[in-house]
Amino acid sequence: MSWSEWAPGRAVEPSIYAADFARLGEQVSALLQAGARVFHVDVGDGHFIPPVTFGPVVIQAIAPLVHEAGGVLDCHLMVDNPASQIPELAAAGADSVTFHVEVVEAPDEVVALARGLGLGVGVALNPGTPVELAAGAAAGADLVLCMSIVPGYSGQPFMPEALPRIRRLRSILPPSVRLQVDGGIGGRTIADAHEAGASLLVAGSAVFGADDPGEAYRALAAAVGA
Ligand code: DX5
Ligand code: ZN
Repeated sequence: MSWSEWAPGRAVEPSIYAADFARLGEQVSALLQAGARVFHVDVGDGHFIPPVTFGPVVIQAIAPLVHEAGGVLDCHLMVDNPASQIPELAAAGADSVTFHVEVVEAPDEVVALARGLGLGVGVALNPGTPVELAAGAAAGADLVLCMSIVPGYSGQPFMPEALPRIRRLRSILPPSVRLQVDGGIGGRTIADAHEAGASLLVAGSAVFGADDPGEAYRALAAAVGA
């Protein structure tokens, strides 16, 4: 399956990093019921970002639930050595992997590795990384992930300087490459990020920090016509 089948047009992706992990299955089920089909999964190694987040064990736990409902797990690898993690993530049930351009010398090799395992693939860039670098690395990828926070933690405010970067990326990337935005997306920022050209909108605390995550997801999806 490809990104165009998972998310034709646009998608709001709940970022499970912000979930209540004591109730993860319940919250994922509620979001599936609310219509979410693409889940953002933040794998962090404690090196590329300070915290260790989670990995294959958590992916394996929720993959059957998500896949049964026709959903997918879109994994954001905030790790120094993505190639070493990708096979295990694939085996655990990941559907796509997005690696950071800052840590990869041969992006084409990582893209090929992911493709060989049947995964979707993306290239992410930090707020300080030139957009041309990511665009150049995105040959053969499905998406470019433009960070609108310094990666590491949910709940940080959206950096407005991401908007011209999204616009620039949209203008230089081929139309077939999706543009994803991650960090500080919520009721006040989602429309701007979407108008700038992002069609895959990741939302962590804006979804899971709400009293009713399903309702919060629906409101964000409605705001961008997803
Ligand atoms: C943080 C992660 C994000 C995070 C987003 O580095 O990559 O996906 O969960 O959380 P919010 O939407 O709260 O900024
Ligand atoms: Zn993320």
